[in-house]
Amino acid sequence: MATTTTGSFYDTFYADGGWQYGLIREWLWHRRHMVKRFGLKRGMRMLEAACGLGFHTNLFCRMGFDCVGVDTCATGINTARQRYPKRDLNICDVRGDLPFDEASFDVVVTRGCSLYHYDLAAPAPIEATTNLMRYLKPGGRFILIIVSDLSGQRDPVKIWQNRLEDYRAHFSRFDANCTVDWHRGVVICGARRTV
Ligand SMILES: C[S@@+](CC[C@H](N)C(=O)[O-])C[C@H]1O[C@@H](n2cnc3c(N)ncnc32)[C@H](O)[C@@H]1O
Repeated sequence: MATTTTGSFYDTFYADGGWQYGLIREWLWHRRHMVKRFGLKRGMRMLEAACGLGFHTNLFCRMGFDCVGVDTCATGINTARQRYPKRDLNICDVRGDLPFDEASFDVVVTRGCSLYHYDLAAPAPIEATTNLMRYLKPGGRFILIIVSDLSGQRDPVKIWQNRLEDYRAHFSRFDANCTVDWHRGVVICGARRTV
């Protein structure tokens, strides 16, 4: 049965159709910047956190990963379930308990999760990373993909444009050897579960 929430920006945005992604372009981008960069192998168990309308959860399954998706927006997940009925898509807050075994994923990937668009030293993103790390196998890979022009702009009404050092500071709390890169407007972070 469909679950509903009302009132959030994403409920309205997703009800209006959300972002329109091109399959080939997204496939090629993620093959280069996610799969090859981090040496991911087909068959790996993957959790997409903040999967929105499920486009990339479905893409990652088609690329050969055993991928499931979670997002807090019920409109997004209910629409995603209709679009991709074979996929495992769940309404969950990434800061809370998830319906999976702990230490059961090789990879957690999050693309643009709203919590990482603002102050990366605030409790909410730290809580999210701490919680998501629980679901990784020891040594498993946490990947954040998120837009930023790196200007450091902290507009009170827009998303922040965090600098590479802000992302590095966030992920070095979890993994001293985390990587933080940038390619044409997109920050790509990789950290391992070290404990
Ligand atoms: C910029 S959208 C990205 C959606 C999708 N990953 C994509 O690339 O199209 C941000 C998403 O983060 C989700 N989100 C924000 N806070 C969340 C939380 N605490 N738990 C789960 N999802 C969250 C929103 O519902 C929204 O779907």
